[in-house]
Amino acid sequence: MCGIVGYVGPRQATPILMEGLRRMEYRGYDSAGIAVLDGHHLDIRKAAGKLGILVDEIAGCPPHGTTGIGHTRWATHGGPTTINAHPHTDQSGRIALIHNGIIENAPAIKQALLDRGHVFKSETDTEVLAHLVGAFYEGNLEEAVASALRDVDGAYGICVVSTDEPDVLIVARNGSPIILGIGDGENLVASDQSALVEHTRSVVYLDNGEMAILKADGYRVRTLTSRHVDKPVNQIEWDLATIERGGFEHFMLKEIFEQPESVENTMRGHLLEETGNVRVYGLKLSDEQIKGIKRIIITACGTSWHSGLIGKYMIEEMARIPTEVEYASEFRYRNPIVDAHTLVIAISQSGETADTLAALGEAKQRGARTLGLVNVVGSTIAREVDGGLYLRCGPEVGVASTKAFTSQVMALAMVTLRLARLRAMSLLDGQRYIQAMLKLPSQIRSILDRAPEVELLAERFANATNALYLGRGVNFPVALEGALKLKEISYIHAEGYPAAEMKHGPIALIDENMPVVVVAPRDAVHAKIVSNIQEVRARGGKVIAIVNAGDEEISRLAEATFIVPVTLDLLTPVLTIIPLQLFSYYVAVRRGCNVDQPRNLAKSVTVE
Ligand code: G6P
Repeated sequence: MCGIVGYVGPRQATPILMEGLRRMEYRGYDSAGIAVLDGHHLDIRKAAGKLGILVDEIAGCPPHGTTGIGHTRWATHGGPTTINAHPHTDQSGRIALIHNGIIENAPAIKQALLDRGHVFKSETDTEVLAHLVGAFYEGNLEEAVASALRDVDGAYGICVVSTDEPDVLIVARNGSPIILGIGDGENLVASDQSALVEHTRSVVYLDNGEMAILKADGYRVRTLTSRHVDKPVNQIEWDLATIERGGFEHFMLKEIFEQPESVENTMRGHLLEETGNVRVYGLKLSDEQIKGIKRIIITACGTSWHSGLIGKYMIEEMARIPTEVEYASEFRYRNPIVDAHTLVIAISQSGETADTLAALGEAKQRGARTLGLVNVVGSTIAREVDGGLYLRCGPEVGVASTKAFTSQVMALAMVTLRLARLRAMSLLDGQRYIQAMLKLPSQIRSILDRAPEVELLAERFANATNALYLGRGVNFPVALEGALKLKEISYIHAEGYPAAEMKHGPIALIDENMPVVVVAPRDAVHAKIVSNIQEVRARGGKVIAIVNAGDEEISRLAEATFIVPVTLDLLTPVLTIIPLQLFSYYVAVRRGCNVDQPRNLAKSVTVE
């Protein structure tokens, strides 16, 4: 999704901005641009496409100056063209602005400005906002931005510069993240920590409705209505090395291979082996409050929604609390039944997904207690929820989510244990779960050691045009996630189904060209899934099965099998998903796809 970076200080801005944009490439974008102030001269360069094109364009004569802003745009209003790329300027050409988010009343504002003779070059809502700031400008940029934003509906993170005040950056936030990077004799701003970490670890997170005014020697934060706000300075814990690829060909592969450690990090310090329980201070739920929970709603998007589905199986089975899982985009526009006895759990890797954030807002407004299972520390969702748990799986850069998924499942298992041990679950069962969870990191490692087997499988099936993924029980969401991974990065059409549901439609698609991936560890529904495999075989379908060792029955029926270690039924997704992640990765590489930045996708979707 769009990225913002800004710099004011003694150094040349262009290299800092370009490096910041490069660090945010993983978020997904389709054009880029920078604006640099050299005294009262404003130099703007933009280009459609990947950052390399902009790099080539500025190579001969980079913009000079020590104040500047940069942006990567993921098109929402108007196509991904150079004209639509940010920064945009006001009518006078003296004010330049970059923006993440969507200005919902842009058409009305644009009409009013057109009536006053304004001329627009692009199709963007951002240019409308730049013109509006210009229209309010009477010699004070800060006040012009505040006035303009008071007229605006929608979500934004913005950064503005002006030739009249060449040593100032003005930023504001409403719904789209803005982080100030506090340096020594210089200050930065970005929508993502990764663009700041090279220069400073001291950061200030702006909240909705806040603006900041940054100069080289200081900054201040205020509200749109000019009230001063004191903000704490936080420290970024992630270092640059953890954001780099660490020797792997792609971030996605690196992140798949990090899962023994990331899963361990998610559990670290929480498991109490002796009492068969977990300690999660961050939940901020007393025993009494937990006993009072009558219903749980899990809300999320994409991969996080899939882990939510696994959470439903866990919570209902172990804690016996009715649980629904709903797409955040649907939840936010329904009239959901939520009350003070409902616990709403939002799951999000980025902590910035617009739909999940809005669903959370809706739940809070209706009096529900909210929990967040979030990876990015200090992200908006993490700050909005009543309590929660950080995934602690480290920065996830590959657009296709992998290690965040397994950490989400682990976090859900921990929350479930906490709920279950206060209800029906026995000490012995609690201990059994904890022992099984502690084994998972080494079991994941044993799967990763056999990655070359998956690579060979991927070579055999890389030319498929369609694929079906089947699973039952807690491995049905794994089938959904496996299919999502394949379509996201290799563009092969893939669908996930509960295995028995196949005969109600998808069976019509099965022929000898259609690989059918079946997730079939030896669990409570194993016998049922064997029958489903027979149905596929009877139609000539080629089955790739994920099984436990010694499963002769399925091995006889399947074209290929991959063995995963044995764990408790409800924890199997943490293991069965690993070969599916590897499979989609190797298929995509074989097909020459851009694994880390698949077409049309964004890492963090901060618009509706
Ligand atoms: C985007 C990403 C997905 C991710 C989803 C939810 O679509 O491409 O990988 O699962 O957003 O993101 P979140 O950060 O809320 O988990």
